Amino acid sequence: MNAQELIDTARALVAGDKGLLAMDESNPTCNKRFARLAIPQTVDARRAYRELIITTPGLGESISGAILYDETIRQQKQDGTLFVKVLNDAGIIPGIKVDTGAKDMAGHPGEKITEGLDGLRDRLKEYFQMGARFAKWRAVIAIGVGIPSRSCIEANARTLARYAALCQEAGLVPVVEPEVLMDGDHTLEQCRAATEEVLRTVFNQLNSQRVLLEGMILKPNMVLPGLTCPAQVSVDEVANITVKSLWQTVPAAVPGIAFLSGGQSAELASARLNTMNLRFKSKLPWALAFSFARAIQQPALEIWQGKDANVLAAQRALLHRARCNWAARRGEYTAAMERTSA
Ligand code: 13P
Repeated sequence: MNAQELIDTARALVAGDKGLLAMDESNPTCNKRFARLAIPQTVDARRAYRELIITTPGLGESISGAILYDETIRQQKQDGTLFVKVLNDAGIIPGIKVDTGAKDMAGHPGEKITEGLDGLRDRLKEYFQMGARFAKWRAVIAIGVGIPSRSCIEANARTLARYAALCQEAGLVPVVEPEVLMDGDHTLEQCRAATEEVLRTVFNQLNSQRVLLEGMILKPNMVLPGLTCPAQVSVDEVANITVKSLWQTVPAAVPGIAFLSGGQSAELASARLNTMNLRFKSKLPWALAFSFARAIQQPALEIWQGKDANVLAAQRALLHRARCNWAARRGEYTAAMERTSA
């Protein structure tokens, strides 16, 4: 492991007020999103969609890294150029999702454990050779009656730390994603308590498994009430409680925190990130950035609908969201941005 290279890559991923574009939907997830819009669920449609994303002119001005999926990292543009080269030429660091999905946890109804450690060392070696410089692993934690259980949190945290240590050994920056889900009617306070317990446990495990904190990125959820909780809260409240929870739990050595969007609307995700940076940026040890999938891609996907004629309009929508989130890192995002372009 070359520690300095890991540190440089981790810093580059959150430099220049940029953030990550998660385009690592597994085939089943991508197909589900296509099916809702009646887009054919084929390898070629998935390839065409990803080509649309990575060839968006100017994307590298607000996106530092793109997270690919095993199918995608092997794909090429129609003219034969490998996606990895297209990204590098655009100044975007290629990354790769390496977990193999969250599966039902035995003996724990309603809870999941993420799989993918078997053979991971060899897969990481291959991905590095293919040009990836960072990797992502997502653990999911649900809130409900009697959950999350301590054993689910511990199992996922241990697994995240084992993945992170293997990544660093292979020269890849781990993007460590423990996602406390928005699904359900839980309160803001329940999300805060679960998020803090999860993050404390994850950092205990990262430390005990000797992960270099300076050479990783944390990808957490924002602290939010459940989607069906009757007590929804303001953007200011979300910003305050999220930053407070991170302040309590994330070591200063970590260079960047890149939020997932988790099913928030694109505009709300930008507004909440903006308020956090506007209020707290100058006082925080880590960068507060983004690593959104749906909150960057969804409007573009809805415009594209699988049709060549819609590619340019979809790229404009994608670029617009990327720029909104770049502005949110600077505390300069405004609702007016949503009216003036897209
Ligand atoms: P969302 O931003 O759509 O939550 O996706 C982020 C991600 O990478 C999930 O693993």
